[in-house]
Amino acid sequence: MLSLSVNGQSHALDVPDDMPLLWVLRDVIGLTGTKFGCGVAQCGACTVHLDGQPVRSCVLPVGAIGNRTITTIEAIGATPAGQKIQQAWLEVDVVQCGYCQSGQIMSAAALLQRTPNPSDADIDAAMSGNICRCGTYVRIRAAIKQAATGTPEILQTLVSAPQGAAP
Ligand code: FES
Ligand code: FES
Repeated sequence: MLSLSVNGQSHALDVPDDMPLLWVLRDVIGLTGTKFGCGVAQCGACTVHLDGQPVRSCVLPVGAIGNRTITTIEAIGATPAGQKIQQAWLEVDVVQCGYCQSGQIMSAAALLQRTPNPSDADIDAAMSGNICRCGTYVRIRAAIKQAATGTPEILQTLVSAPQGAAP
């Protein structure tokens, strides 16, 4: 029997030590906000926090967690950084299909927790492991900056007019 602290709640679980945390969260505990993408630590969709640090839950054996506490997307809004990030995500209207967004928000909240006013380089370094097939990267960056500063970010359009088009 294994004991796991998830979102402030203790769970006694009868699962194999080598079961990935992602499976435990989704299939055993029933927290389905954390997503399965690649299963091999390459996409970031499964990101959760372990003692506040972002980790890939698809490759983390549950037996390796010990006493460390787990926070998932279901509870990140209760932390100051998570609350700011989620609010900015809504205001900037980041989400498209949504599949990658739990992982994006968890990585962004961890960044804001350790670096309250991140530079572009900080954002790139923290977010580079989170893939978005819908290409929401520009809005993600804007939302992180808005969460950090409290000031609305102006989104630059990436689409330029076709050559010869009237202004
Ligand atoms: S599902 Fe874990 S990194 Fe892709
Ligand atoms: S919003 Fe669709 S994959 Fe990121």
